[in-house]
Amino acid sequence: MEEADPNTRFVMCFFGGHIAKRPLGLALAHLQQSSRFLGRRQSLIEDARKEREAAAAAAEAGECTDPLVFEEKNGKAIVNLLFSLKGNKPSSLSRTLKVFETFEAKIQHMETRPGKKGTGSNSDLEYFIRCEVHRSDLNTLMSSIRRVSEDVRTTKEVKVHWFPTKIADLDKCHHLETKFDPDLDLEHPGFSDQEYRKRRKMIADIAFSYRHGDPIQRVEYLPEEIATWKQVYSTLKSLYPTHACKEHLEAFHLLETHCGYSEDNIPQLQDVSCFLKEKTGFQLRPVAGLLSARDFLSSLAFRVFQCTQYIRHASSPMHSPEPDCCHELLGHVPMLADKTFAQFSQDIGLASLGATDEEIEKLATLYWFTVEFGLCKQDGEVKAYGAGLLSSYGELLHSLSDEPESRPFDPDEAAVQPYQDQNYQSVYFVSESFTDAKEKLRTYVAHIKRPFAVQYNPYTLSIEVLDSPSQIQSSLEELRDELQTLTTALNILS
Ligand SMILES: [Fe+2]
Repeated sequence: MEEADPNTRFVMCFFGGHIAKRPLGLALAHLQQSSRFLGRRQSLIEDARKEREAAAAAAEAGECTDPLVFEEKNGKAIVNLLFSLKGNKPSSLSRTLKVFETFEAKIQHMETRPGKKGTGSNSDLEYFIRCEVHRSDLNTLMSSIRRVSEDVRTTKEVKVHWFPTKIADLDKCHHLETKFDPDLDLEHPGFSDQEYRKRRKMIADIAFSYRHGDPIQRVEYLPEEIATWKQVYSTLKSLYPTHACKEHLEAFHLLETHCGYSEDNIPQLQDVSCFLKEKTGFQLRPVAGLLSARDFLSSLAFRVFQCTQYIRHASSPMHSPEPDCCHELLGHVPMLADKTFAQFSQDIGLASLGATDEEIEKLATLYWFTVEFGLCKQDGEVKAYGAGLLSSYGELLHSLSDEPESRPFDPDEAAVQPYQDQNYQSVYFVSESFTDAKEKLRTYVAHIKRPFAVQYNPYTLSIEVLDSPSQIQSSLEELRDELQTLTTALNILS
């Protein structure tokens, strides 16, 4: 393995939405050889880790709120309480409810649930109440309820992170965690190029002013930008037939036929977004840089892919210090046109909604070892499906060589696998198939501690939070209708 020369000048390199530094000499030689890079790589995982550490530090400093609180707004807290009645007297319930009335606690939801003994008698029922109460009254309310009821406790749904529930809420999910733009980063290849910096600002402004529902503004790319694209496009395309999975190859062909993909044209995000919407319901949304892990993953829950629109600097055609359109359009987009892969991506997004910082970090790591650097078996061979591989000539070669270790995909293992930020990955996870990966992911996600389940409603483009029997019942009825349609179809066929 090559050692870094202390005098070596590094350039920042982008691999799969993730950032690395690469020695300048190696970067320039990259077209001819599969060279190593050395230096630190910035990633969604790194961002997620920082968020988790910041939250832990805040908690330690006493900034965390009472763990009973589900949500807090304008001095009001929303809490979920469970209790059972003292004895079997009908008056017990009214006495308890009187406490809520005394504290002007607004009951938002109330239901009975089978108690711990589960015998079905009244005394074995538990009461679940979600209420809004003044934050300052919360502790007194709790102790007052304890005086008239038994087994009073909050449910485990403690403070849950805000998450978007409507697709338009993604307008609020724009937290750029790391900003490697050429204005700020001395090592950025475009730092000393005033024209490039102006260009980048103009394209970033499209993303900043974008709102859900707007058509994505077209960019008239300059001849030198198209020349950079051409170099990346033709180099990577030469490797695809032998290294890319068949889903990528098939979609790439369609994109060339219908969506303006060619070495002389940088496709427009609006056209690509329409193409994806027809294929899998995914759509693109312009973004100015690398988002926080939480914001990026939450958009996947809505089948929205946050996509950069600018292109890397012409001086380093094979490398970029941040995500750029080469990585997105060549690596991610073809895969998002596959139905099973699209579902897999959305499942990671859905799992992230309301998850703890620790879980977000694990999901970002899972995303890294699958969507960005995943391999899969196909017809007795191993192929690449990760966008970080399919947009990096060097790592694509490396990943399918004998050098790295390949392990069967196991989400529990991949979610905590140390990722390589100094070099190419030393470990890759190989899925049996996308369907197999999806099933394993669902098993993993089921164990994430979250006080509710979520489902995406494709008609209203919104997230439904399933945290009560009535909501689950309603979803089951919809499912029954769909099953009925399928049963009818099967009957017609038979
Ligand atoms: Fe990426």
